[in-house]
Amino acid sequence: MGNKDFDLDDAYGLKTPEELLRYYRTLAPSYDADFAAAMDFRVPQLIAEAYAAEAIGPVLDVGAGTGLLAAELHKRGVTPVDGVDISPEMIAVARGKGVYRDLHLGDVTTRMDFPDSSYLGCVSSGTFTFGHAGPEAIEEMLRVTESGGLFALSVHSGVYAAAGFAARFSALEEEGSIMCFRAADIAFYGPRATGPHAGDHGFLVTFRKV
Ligand SMILES: C[S@@+](CC[C@H](N)C(=O)[O-])C[C@H]1O[C@@H](n2cnc3c(N)ncnc32)[C@H](O)[C@@H]1O
Repeated sequence: MGNKDFDLDDAYGLKTPEELLRYYRTLAPSYDADFAAAMDFRVPQLIAEAYAAEAIGPVLDVGAGTGLLAAELHKRGVTPVDGVDISPEMIAVARGKGVYRDLHLGDVTTRMDFPDSSYLGCVSSGTFTFGHAGPEAIEEMLRVTESGGLFALSVHSGVYAAAGFAARFSALEEEGSIMCFRAADIAFYGPRATGPHAGDHGFLVTFRKV
């Protein structure tokens, strides 16, 4: 990677919300250039493609970061996009891009400041990974999404089973809360990526709220 501040081992080793906030406070201004561009980060584009193929806005972008996913949704005609992120500095960068209708500071693993069934769908890119948000977020995302709404999320392969995402999706499917579940294995980074994480992959998970 182009900048040593973006050592992914630091991101994956985050242990507490305080560490996560400190990490993104420092990195927000250079995230797009030194992480996303340098690592040829493909996930926002892949999530936007999957979502835009089957659904429309309003859609909530969870862990919106600097707004890369919303920009990809806009390119595909999906609007309006609202975003939520735990980091004020990441939100500030996203706000500057003008691709969100609303941006909210919030933690997706707790109750968010949105009424039930506010959105026709919910998307997330890069937020379900080591040291970030866990599967407890999924119920809250379901709460704010309308019945029939589409979900398109990335989950890093290293946490998919280990942090309980696979079990949570199975349980939600079995209890009849979600339907049309699919998990496609995707490469997170393109051919320009370098370093020990260049080959990282995960799942592009799609489903609908029953
Ligand atoms: C790797 S960045 C991804 C940003 C953007 N979605 C992208 O694809 O470039 C992960 C983002 O998730 C946010 N995040 C981590 N845990 C969160 C939580 N519990 N609730 C909301 N946002 C969270 C971080 O602040 C960070 O902006």
